[in-house]
Amino acid sequence: MSKAKGGDGGGDGHLSMSPEQMLELARQTAELVVQRIENLPGEGAWEGEFRRELEDRLLKPPPEESRSASQVIEEAAREILPVALRLDHPRCFGFIPSQPTWPGVLADFMIAGFNINQCSWLTSSGPSQLELVVIDWFRRWIGYPESAGGLLTSGGSAANLDALVAAREAANNPERASLYMSDQSHSALVKAARVIGIRPECIRMIPTDGRFRMDMDALVETVAEDRAAGLSPIAVCANAGTSSSGAIDSLEAMADYCEAQSIWLHVDAAHGGFAIVTEEGKKILSGIERADSVALDAHKWFFQPYEVGGLMVKDVRTLERAFAGKHDILQDTVWGADHPNFSDRGLQLSRSVRALKVWMSVQTFGMAAFRRAVSHGMDLAHRIEEYVEDSSVLEMLTPAVLGIACFRVRPADTDLGEEVFEEINRTVLARVFWEDRAFVSSTLLHGTFALRMCVINYSTTWNDVHETLEVISKFGTESLIRTD
Ligand SMILES: Cc1ncc(COP(=O)(O)O)c(C=O)c1O
Repeated sequence: MSKAKGGDGGGDGHLSMSPEQMLELARQTAELVVQRIENLPGEGAWEGEFRRELEDRLLKPPPEESRSASQVIEEAAREILPVALRLDHPRCFGFIPSQPTWPGVLADFMIAGFNINQCSWLTSSGPSQLELVVIDWFRRWIGYPESAGGLLTSGGSAANLDALVAAREAANNPERASLYMSDQSHSALVKAARVIGIRPECIRMIPTDGRFRMDMDALVETVAEDRAAGLSPIAVCANAGTSSSGAIDSLEAMADYCEAQSIWLHVDAAHGGFAIVTEEGKKILSGIERADSVALDAHKWFFQPYEVGGLMVKDVRTLERAFAGKHDILQDTVWGADHPNFSDRGLQLSRSVRALKVWMSVQTFGMAAFRRAVSHGMDLAHRIEEYVEDSSVLEMLTPAVLGIACFRVRPADTDLGEEVFEEINRTVLARVFWEDRAFVSSTLLHGTFALRMCVINYSTTWNDVHETLEVISKFGTESLIRTD
Protein backbone atom coordinates (compact mmCIF):
# COMPACT_ATOMS: atom_id res chain seq x y z
CA MET A 1 0.00 0.00 0.00
CA SER A 2 1.44 3.43 -0.82
CA LYS A 3 0.12 6.93 -1.13
CA ALA A 4 0.40 9.07 -4.28
CA LYS A 5 3.19 11.60 -4.37
CA GLY A 6 2.80 15.23 -5.31
CA GLY A 7 4.10 18.73 -4.79
CA ASP A 8 7.40 20.23 -5.84
CA GLY A 9 9.22 20.60 -2.57
CA GLY A 10 9.74 23.87 -0.82
CA GLY A 11 11.67 25.67 1.85
CA ASP A 12 14.67 27.89 1.19
CA GLY A 13 17.24 25.16 1.70
CA HIS A 14 19.31 26.87 4.42
CA LEU A 15 19.46 23.63 6.36
CA SER A 16 19.82 21.38 3.32
CA MET A 17 22.86 19.90 1.65
CA SER A 18 23.42 18.62 -1.87
CA PRO A 19 23.49 14.83 -2.36
CA GLU A 20 27.20 15.08 -3.27
CA GLN A 21 27.99 16.93 -0.06
CA MET A 22 25.94 14.49 2.00
CA LEU A 23 27.78 11.51 0.54
CA GLU A 24 31.17 13.12 1.02
CA LEU A 25 30.45 13.90 4.68
CA ALA A 26 29.04 10.41 5.27
CA ARG A 27 32.21 8.91 3.79
CA GLN A 28 34.40 11.14 5.98
CA THR A 29 32.38 10.18 9.06
CA ALA A 30 32.50 6.46 8.26
CA GLU A 31 36.27 6.65 7.73
CA LEU A 32 36.77 8.37 11.08
CA VAL A 33 34.65 5.80 12.91
CA VAL A 34 36.31 2.80 11.24
CA GLN A 35 39.74 4.31 11.91
CA ARG A 36 38.80 4.67 15.57
CA ILE A 37 37.72 1.04 15.78
CA GLU A 38 40.92 -0.13 14.06
CA ASN A 39 43.17 1.89 16.38
CA LEU A 40 41.30 1.03 19.58
CA PRO A 41 43.28 -2.05 20.74
CA GLY A 42 46.56 -0.07 20.73
CA GLU A 43 45.12 2.72 22.86
CA GLY A 44 44.01 2.91 26.45
CA ALA A 45 40.50 1.79 27.34
CA TRP A 46 39.85 5.07 29.15
CA GLU A 47 40.33 8.74 28.43
CA GLY A 48 38.90 11.54 30.52
CA GLU A 49 39.48 15.17 31.42
CA PHE A 50 38.50 17.63 34.11
CA ARG A 51 35.60 19.96 33.46
CA ARG A 52 37.66 23.16 33.55
CA GLU A 53 39.91 21.92 30.76
CA LEU A 54 36.92 20.76 28.68
CA GLU A 55 35.12 24.04 29.23
CA ASP A 56 38.14 25.91 27.94
CA ARG A 57 37.94 23.84 24.79
CA LEU A 58 34.20 23.64 24.28
CA LEU A 59 32.25 26.32 26.11
CA LYS A 60 31.52 28.77 23.29
CA PRO A 61 28.29 30.41 22.16
CA PRO A 62 26.66 28.76 19.16
CA PRO A 63 28.02 30.29 15.95
CA GLU A 64 25.67 32.64 14.12
CA GLU A 65 27.17 31.83 10.75
CA SER A 66 27.86 28.49 9.11
CA ARG A 67 31.12 26.57 9.46
CA SER A 68 32.69 23.87 7.37
CA ALA A 69 30.72 20.67 8.06
CA SER A 70 33.83 18.63 7.46
CA GLN A 71 35.72 20.58 10.13
CA VAL A 72 32.82 20.20 12.57
CA ILE A 73 32.85 16.41 12.08
CA GLU A 74 36.61 16.33 12.47
CA GLU A 75 36.37 18.34 15.70
CA ALA A 76 33.75 15.97 17.15
CA ALA A 77 35.81 12.91 16.26
CA ARG A 78 39.15 14.23 17.48
CA GLU A 79 38.32 16.57 20.37
CA ILE A 80 35.09 15.37 21.97
CA LEU A 81 34.15 11.75 21.40
CA PRO A 82 37.52 10.16 22.27
CA VAL A 83 37.40 11.74 25.75
CA ALA A 84 35.39 8.89 27.21
CA LEU A 85 35.49 5.36 28.46
CA ARG A 86 35.94 3.15 25.39
CA LEU A 87 33.39 0.51 26.32
CA ASP A 88 34.09 -1.49 23.17
CA HIS A 89 37.84 -1.73 23.86
CA PRO A 90 39.03 -5.36 24.11
CA ARG A 91 40.45 -4.49 27.54
CA CYS A 92 37.44 -2.64 28.86
CA PHE A 93 36.39 -4.79 31.81
CA GLY A 94 34.73 -2.14 33.96
CA PHE A 95 31.03 -1.79 34.75
CA ILE A 96 29.22 -3.52 31.88
CA PRO A 97 31.17 -3.03 28.70
CA SER A 98 29.43 -3.03 25.37
CA GLN A 99 30.77 -3.69 21.91
CA PRO A 100 28.34 -3.00 19.09
CA THR A 101 28.45 -4.82 15.77
CA TRP A 102 29.04 -2.69 12.70
CA PRO A 103 25.64 -3.51 11.13
CA GLY A 104 24.10 -2.28 14.39
CA VAL A 105 25.98 1.00 14.09
CA LEU A 106 24.92 1.39 10.47
CA ALA A 107 21.34 0.62 11.43
CA ASP A 108 21.36 3.60 13.80
CA PHE A 109 22.64 5.79 10.98
CA MET A 110 19.91 4.50 8.65
CA ILE A 111 17.24 4.99 11.29
CA ALA A 112 18.23 8.62 11.70
CA GLY A 113 18.34 9.04 7.92
CA PHE A 114 14.92 7.48 7.34
CA ASN A 115 13.60 9.56 10.21
CA ILE A 116 10.79 7.32 11.32
CA ASN A 117 8.68 7.90 14.39
CA GLN A 118 7.78 4.43 15.52
CA CYS A 119 5.00 5.45 17.84
CA SER A 120 2.17 3.90 15.86
CA TRP A 121 1.33 1.46 13.09
CA LEU A 122 0.18 4.35 10.91
CA THR A 123 3.49 6.18 11.16
CA SER A 124 5.67 3.08 10.86
CA SER A 125 4.04 -0.18 9.83
CA GLY A 126 7.22 -1.74 8.40
CA PRO A 127 9.37 -0.94 11.44
CA SER A 128 6.51 -1.86 13.80
CA GLN A 129 6.29 -5.27 12.16
CA LEU A 130 10.06 -5.57 12.54
CA GLU A 131 9.79 -4.82 16.27
CA LEU A 132 7.15 -7.55 16.51
CA VAL A 133 9.61 -9.91 14.84
CA VAL A 134 12.47 -9.07 17.20
CA ILE A 135 10.15 -9.23 20.21
CA ASP A 136 9.04 -12.65 18.99
CA TRP A 137 12.68 -13.79 18.88
CA PHE A 138 13.09 -12.63 22.49
CA ARG A 139 9.84 -14.39 23.42
CA ARG A 140 11.07 -17.70 22.03
CA TRP A 141 14.52 -17.36 23.64
CA ILE A 142 12.94 -16.72 27.02
CA GLY A 143 10.52 -19.61 26.54
CA TYR A 144 7.43 -17.41 26.90
CA PRO A 145 4.01 -18.46 25.52
CA GLU A 146 2.42 -16.83 22.47
CA SER A 147 0.38 -14.54 24.70
CA ALA A 148 3.63 -12.79 25.61
CA GLY A 149 4.84 -9.60 24.01
CA GLY A 150 6.75 -6.48 24.78
CA LEU A 151 8.61 -3.54 23.38
CA LEU A 152 12.07 -2.19 22.87
CA THR A 153 13.08 0.56 25.25
CA SER A 154 15.96 2.96 25.69
CA GLY A 155 17.60 0.49 28.09
CA GLY A 156 17.23 -1.56 31.24
CA SER A 157 16.14 1.36 33.41
CA ALA A 158 13.21 2.13 31.12
CA ALA A 159 12.32 -1.56 30.79
CA ASN A 160 12.29 -1.97 34.58
CA LEU A 161 10.18 1.15 34.97
CA ASP A 162 7.61 0.04 32.40
CA ALA A 163 7.48 -3.40 34.06
CA LEU A 164 6.73 -1.91 37.45
CA VAL A 165 3.96 0.26 36.01
CA ALA A 166 2.40 -2.88 34.47
CA ALA A 167 2.76 -4.72 37.80
CA ARG A 168 1.17 -1.87 39.74
CA GLU A 169 -1.76 -1.66 37.33
CA ALA A 170 -2.19 -5.46 37.35
CA ALA A 171 -2.50 -5.18 41.15
CA ASN A 172 -5.19 -2.50 40.67
CA ASN A 173 -2.95 0.32 41.76
CA PRO A 174 -3.29 -0.21 45.52
CA GLU A 175 -2.94 2.75 47.84
CA ARG A 176 -0.30 1.27 50.12
CA ALA A 177 1.83 -0.57 47.59
CA SER A 178 5.07 -2.33 48.51
CA LEU A 179 7.84 -3.77 46.36
CA TYR A 180 10.56 -6.35 47.01
CA MET A 181 14.06 -6.67 45.62
CA SER A 182 17.38 -7.85 46.97
CA ASP A 183 20.18 -5.82 48.49
CA GLN A 184 22.09 -6.61 45.26
CA SER A 185 19.46 -5.19 42.93
CA HIS A 186 20.43 -2.43 40.56
CA SER A 187 19.74 1.14 41.59
CA ALA A 188 17.66 1.42 38.39
CA LEU A 189 14.99 -0.69 40.12
CA VAL A 190 14.97 1.53 43.18
CA LYS A 191 14.69 4.56 40.92
CA ALA A 192 11.82 2.94 38.99
CA ALA A 193 10.06 2.17 42.27
CA ARG A 194 10.37 5.82 43.30
CA VAL A 195 9.11 7.01 39.93
CA ILE A 196 5.98 4.89 40.19
CA GLY A 197 5.34 6.34 43.60
CA ILE A 198 6.27 3.55 46.01
CA ARG A 199 7.03 5.14 49.36
CA PRO A 200 10.73 4.71 50.29
CA GLU A 201 9.91 2.61 53.39
CA CYS A 202 7.82 0.30 51.19
CA ILE A 203 10.72 -0.47 48.85
CA ARG A 204 11.95 -3.53 50.71
CA MET A 205 15.55 -4.59 50.20
CA ILE A 206 15.76 -8.28 51.06
CA PRO A 207 19.13 -9.58 52.28
CA THR A 208 21.12 -12.04 50.18
CA ASP A 209 22.93 -15.29 50.96
CA GLY A 210 26.68 -15.98 50.68
CA ARG A 211 26.31 -16.18 46.87
CA PHE A 212 24.43 -12.87 46.68
CA ARG A 213 21.04 -14.47 45.90
CA MET A 214 17.87 -13.28 47.57
CA ASP A 215 17.24 -14.97 50.92
CA MET A 216 13.88 -16.63 50.31
CA ASP A 217 13.05 -17.01 54.01
CA ALA A 218 13.61 -13.29 54.51
CA LEU A 219 11.38 -12.53 51.52
CA VAL A 220 8.56 -14.72 52.81
CA GLU A 221 8.83 -13.19 56.28
CA THR A 222 8.93 -9.60 55.01
CA VAL A 223 5.92 -10.02 52.72
CA ALA A 224 3.93 -11.66 55.55
CA GLU A 225 4.81 -8.81 57.93
CA ASP A 226 3.91 -6.19 55.34
CA ARG A 227 0.60 -7.82 54.52
CA ALA A 228 -0.22 -7.95 58.23
CA ALA A 229 0.59 -4.23 58.41
CA GLY A 230 -1.86 -3.48 55.60
CA LEU A 231 0.57 -3.09 52.70
CA SER A 232 -0.18 -4.51 49.26
CA PRO A 233 2.82 -6.17 47.61
CA ILE A 234 2.73 -5.36 43.90
CA ALA A 235 5.87 -7.14 42.72
CA VAL A 236 8.93 -9.14 43.66
CA CYS A 237 12.00 -8.29 41.56
CA ALA A 238 14.51 -11.04 40.88
CA ASN A 239 18.03 -10.52 39.54
CA ALA A 240 19.45 -12.40 36.57
CA GLY A 241 22.14 -11.47 37.22
CA THR A 242 23.25 -8.73 39.50
CA SER A 243 25.54 -6.14 38.01
CA SER A 244 28.00 -6.52 40.90
CA SER A 245 28.73 -10.23 40.70
CA GLY A 246 26.36 -11.70 38.10
CA ALA A 247 24.45 -13.56 40.83
CA ILE A 248 21.18 -15.10 39.72
CA ASP A 249 18.36 -15.31 42.24
CA SER A 250 16.58 -18.64 42.67
CA LEU A 251 14.14 -18.02 39.86
CA GLU A 252 12.17 -21.28 40.25
CA ALA A 253 11.71 -20.81 43.99
CA MET A 254 10.70 -17.19 43.49
CA ALA A 255 8.23 -18.18 40.76
CA ASP A 256 6.71 -20.85 43.05
CA TYR A 257 6.36 -18.31 45.82
CA CYS A 258 4.96 -15.50 43.67
CA GLU A 259 2.46 -17.82 41.99
CA ALA A 260 1.25 -19.05 45.37
CA GLN A 261 0.99 -15.48 46.66
CA SER A 262 -0.42 -13.97 43.45
CA ILE A 263 2.38 -11.41 43.32
CA TRP A 264 3.88 -10.21 40.04
CA LEU A 265 7.39 -11.60 39.49
CA HIS A 266 9.67 -9.30 37.54
CA VAL A 267 13.16 -10.39 36.49
CA ASP A 268 15.80 -7.73 35.95
CA ALA A 269 17.90 -9.55 33.36
CA ALA A 270 19.33 -6.35 31.90
CA HIS A 271 22.83 -7.70 32.31
CA GLY A 272 22.45 -11.46 32.02
CA GLY A 273 19.31 -12.00 29.96
CA PHE A 274 20.91 -12.65 26.60
CA ALA A 275 22.91 -15.55 28.04
CA ILE A 276 19.65 -17.37 27.32
CA VAL A 277 20.75 -17.84 23.70
CA THR A 278 23.45 -20.29 24.88
CA GLU A 279 23.07 -23.75 26.39
CA GLU A 280 24.87 -22.74 29.62
CA GLY A 281 22.73 -19.62 29.91
CA LYS A 282 19.50 -21.54 29.36
CA LYS A 283 20.42 -23.84 32.24
CA ILE A 284 21.40 -21.17 34.72
CA LEU A 285 18.45 -18.93 33.85
CA SER A 286 15.92 -21.74 34.10
CA GLY A 287 12.68 -20.46 35.62
CA ILE A 288 12.90 -17.05 33.90
CA GLU A 289 10.03 -18.15 31.63
CA ARG A 290 7.75 -18.26 34.68
CA ALA A 291 8.17 -14.56 35.45
CA ASP A 292 5.44 -12.06 34.61
CA SER A 293 7.99 -9.71 33.10
CA VAL A 294 11.63 -9.69 32.08
CA ALA A 295 13.88 -6.70 31.36
CA LEU A 296 16.73 -7.27 28.90
CA ASP A 297 19.42 -5.01 27.49
CA ALA A 298 20.53 -5.59 23.92
CA HIS A 299 23.06 -2.75 24.29
CA LYS A 300 24.89 -4.87 26.84
CA TRP A 301 25.28 -8.56 25.97
CA PHE A 302 23.67 -8.55 22.57
CA PHE A 303 26.28 -6.31 21.01
CA GLN A 304 24.18 -3.33 19.97
CA PRO A 305 24.88 0.40 20.08
CA TYR A 306 23.16 2.36 22.84
CA GLU A 307 20.18 2.67 23.27
CA VAL A 308 18.25 -0.55 23.10
CA GLY A 309 16.74 -2.50 25.95
CA GLY A 310 13.65 -4.63 25.95
CA LEU A 311 10.74 -5.43 28.19
CA MET A 312 8.92 -8.72 27.79
CA VAL A 313 5.70 -9.51 29.62
CA LYS A 314 4.05 -12.89 29.76
CA ASP A 315 0.68 -11.40 28.83
CA VAL A 316 1.06 -8.45 26.49
CA ARG A 317 -2.36 -7.13 27.49
CA THR A 318 -0.94 -6.22 30.91
CA LEU A 319 1.33 -3.68 29.21
CA GLU A 320 -1.42 -2.28 27.03
CA ARG A 321 -3.77 -1.95 29.99
CA ALA A 322 -1.10 0.03 31.78
CA PHE A 323 -0.05 2.33 28.95
CA ALA A 324 -2.68 2.59 26.23
CA GLY A 325 -4.60 5.84 26.36
CA LYS A 326 -6.96 7.83 24.22
CA HIS A 327 -5.73 11.04 22.72
CA ASP A 328 -7.72 13.12 20.26
CA ILE A 329 -4.83 14.11 18.08
CA LEU A 330 -3.84 10.46 17.69
CA GLN A 331 -7.31 9.20 16.78
CA ASP A 332 -6.25 8.45 13.19
CA THR A 333 -3.54 6.09 14.34
CA VAL A 334 -5.88 3.35 15.47
CA TRP A 335 -5.59 0.52 12.94
CA GLY A 336 -7.51 -2.03 14.96
CA ALA A 337 -6.73 -5.51 16.19
CA ASP A 338 -3.29 -6.97 15.45
CA HIS A 339 -1.79 -3.61 14.55
CA PRO A 340 -0.19 -2.51 17.79
CA ASN A 341 0.88 1.03 18.39
CA PHE A 342 4.06 0.56 20.34
CA SER A 343 3.48 3.78 22.23
CA ASP A 344 0.58 1.90 23.87
CA ARG A 345 3.08 -0.44 25.51
CA GLY A 346 5.41 1.94 27.29
CA LEU A 347 6.34 5.44 28.33
CA GLN A 348 7.52 6.91 25.05
CA LEU A 349 5.33 8.35 22.33
CA SER A 350 7.99 9.37 19.82
CA ARG A 351 10.29 6.38 19.47
CA SER A 352 13.13 5.43 17.21
CA VAL A 353 13.33 2.13 15.31
CA ARG A 354 15.37 0.13 17.78
CA ALA A 355 14.57 -3.24 16.25
CA LEU A 356 16.55 -2.48 13.10
CA LYS A 357 19.97 -2.75 14.73
CA VAL A 358 19.15 -6.05 16.39
CA TRP A 359 17.62 -7.42 13.19
CA MET A 360 20.42 -6.24 10.87
CA SER A 361 23.13 -7.64 13.17
CA VAL A 362 21.46 -11.02 13.49
CA GLN A 363 20.68 -11.20 9.75
CA THR A 364 24.30 -10.36 8.93
CA PHE A 365 26.13 -12.68 11.31
CA GLY A 366 23.54 -15.34 12.16
CA MET A 367 22.60 -16.60 15.60
CA ALA A 368 25.46 -19.10 15.73
CA ALA A 369 27.91 -16.18 15.85
CA PHE A 370 25.90 -14.48 18.62
CA ARG A 371 25.79 -17.72 20.63
CA ARG A 372 29.56 -18.12 20.27
CA ALA A 373 30.16 -14.50 21.29
CA VAL A 374 28.02 -14.78 24.43
CA SER A 375 29.56 -18.16 25.35
CA HIS A 376 33.00 -16.64 24.84
CA GLY A 377 32.30 -14.10 27.60
CA MET A 378 31.19 -16.82 29.99
CA ASP A 379 34.25 -18.95 29.15
CA LEU A 380 36.63 -16.04 29.78
CA ALA A 381 35.07 -15.42 33.20
CA HIS A 382 35.50 -19.12 34.07
CA ARG A 383 39.15 -18.89 32.99
CA ILE A 384 39.63 -15.90 35.28
CA GLU A 385 38.31 -18.05 38.11
CA GLU A 386 40.82 -20.82 37.25
CA TYR A 387 43.64 -18.29 37.12
CA VAL A 388 42.68 -16.81 40.49
CA GLU A 389 42.27 -20.26 42.08
CA ASP A 390 45.85 -21.07 40.97
CA SER A 391 47.23 -17.73 42.10
CA SER A 392 49.14 -17.30 45.34
CA VAL A 393 48.18 -13.62 45.52
CA LEU A 394 44.54 -13.49 44.50
CA GLU A 395 41.32 -14.86 45.96
CA MET A 396 37.88 -15.32 44.35
CA LEU A 397 35.08 -13.64 46.29
CA THR A 398 32.23 -15.52 44.63
CA PRO A 399 32.06 -17.93 41.68
CA ALA A 400 32.32 -16.35 38.23
CA VAL A 401 28.96 -16.19 36.51
CA LEU A 402 27.47 -14.51 33.44
CA GLY A 403 30.79 -13.10 32.29
CA ILE A 404 31.64 -11.43 35.61
CA ALA A 405 34.44 -12.38 38.00
CA CYS A 406 34.95 -10.73 41.40
CA PHE A 407 38.20 -11.29 43.23
CA ARG A 408 40.79 -9.43 45.25
CA VAL A 409 44.42 -9.40 46.24
CA ARG A 410 44.58 -11.54 49.33
CA PRO A 411 47.14 -14.34 49.67
CA ALA A 412 45.70 -17.36 51.48
CA ASP A 413 48.49 -17.46 54.07
CA THR A 414 48.52 -13.76 54.94
CA ASP A 415 46.17 -12.05 57.34
CA LEU A 416 46.70 -8.32 57.40
CA GLY A 417 43.15 -7.44 58.38
CA GLU A 418 40.26 -6.31 56.19
CA GLU A 419 41.16 -2.62 56.22
CA VAL A 420 44.66 -3.25 54.94
CA PHE A 421 43.39 -5.55 52.20
CA GLU A 422 40.90 -2.92 51.12
CA GLU A 423 43.67 -0.34 50.95
CA ILE A 424 45.87 -2.69 48.94
CA ASN A 425 43.10 -3.46 46.47
CA ARG A 426 42.18 0.19 46.07
CA THR A 427 45.84 0.92 45.30
CA VAL A 428 45.96 -1.91 42.75
CA LEU A 429 42.82 -0.61 41.06
CA ALA A 430 44.22 2.93 40.91
CA ARG A 431 47.50 1.68 39.45
CA VAL A 432 45.71 -0.33 36.74
CA PHE A 433 43.71 2.81 35.98
CA TRP A 434 46.72 5.10 35.64
CA GLU A 435 49.45 2.75 34.45
CA ASP A 436 47.76 0.14 32.26
CA ARG A 437 45.77 0.04 29.03
CA ALA A 438 42.96 -1.94 30.63
CA PHE A 439 39.99 -0.47 32.47
CA VAL A 440 38.86 -2.44 35.52
CA SER A 441 36.27 -1.32 38.06
CA SER A 442 35.38 -2.41 41.57
CA THR A 443 32.36 -3.22 43.65
CA LEU A 444 31.41 -3.95 47.23
CA LEU A 445 30.20 -7.46 48.02
CA HIS A 446 28.49 -7.42 51.41
CA GLY A 447 30.90 -4.63 52.29
CA THR A 448 34.06 -6.32 50.97
CA PHE A 449 35.95 -4.33 48.37
CA ALA A 450 36.23 -6.43 45.20
CA LEU A 451 38.07 -6.04 41.92
CA ARG A 452 35.55 -6.86 39.24
CA MET A 453 36.10 -7.85 35.64
CA CYS A 454 33.21 -8.10 33.21
CA VAL A 455 34.55 -9.80 30.10
CA ILE A 456 31.75 -9.77 27.55
CA ASN A 457 33.17 -7.86 24.58
CA TYR A 458 33.40 -10.13 21.55
CA SER A 459 36.87 -8.93 20.56
CA THR A 460 38.36 -9.57 24.02
CA THR A 461 40.88 -12.43 23.88
CA TRP A 462 42.25 -14.58 26.69
CA ASN A 463 45.55 -12.75 26.14
CA ASP A 464 43.81 -9.42 26.93
CA VAL A 465 42.37 -10.88 30.11
CA HIS A 466 45.51 -12.81 31.10
CA GLU A 467 47.85 -9.83 30.71
CA THR A 468 45.50 -7.74 32.85
CA LEU A 469 45.43 -10.43 35.54
CA GLU A 470 49.25 -10.55 35.46
CA VAL A 471 49.40 -6.78 35.92
CA ILE A 472 46.93 -6.97 38.83
CA SER A 473 48.99 -9.77 40.43
CA LYS A 474 52.20 -7.78 39.98
CA PHE A 475 50.73 -4.59 41.49
CA GLY A 476 49.21 -6.70 44.26
CA THR A 477 52.54 -8.34 45.08
CA GLU A 478 54.26 -4.94 45.13
CA SER A 479 51.62 -3.54 47.51
CA LEU A 480 51.95 -6.59 49.78
CA ILE A 481 55.74 -6.17 49.91
CA ARG A 482 55.29 -2.50 50.86
CA THR A 483 52.99 -3.37 53.75
CA ASP A 484 55.40 -6.01 55.10
C1 LIG B 1 21.10 -5.50 36.32
C2 LIG B 1 20.89 -4.16 35.69
N1 LIG B 1 19.68 -3.59 35.72
C3 LIG B 1 19.44 -2.38 35.17
C4 LIG B 1 20.45 -1.67 34.59
C5 LIG B 1 20.17 -0.32 33.98
O1 LIG B 1 20.18 -0.47 32.58
P1 LIG B 1 20.43 0.78 31.61
O2 LIG B 1 21.77 1.31 31.95
O3 LIG B 1 20.38 0.16 30.25
O4 LIG B 1 19.35 1.75 31.82
C6 LIG B 1 21.74 -2.22 34.54
C7 LIG B 1 22.85 -1.46 33.97
O5 LIG B 1 23.99 -1.80 34.07
C8 LIG B 1 21.96 -3.50 35.09
O6 LIG B 1 23.16 -4.07 35.08
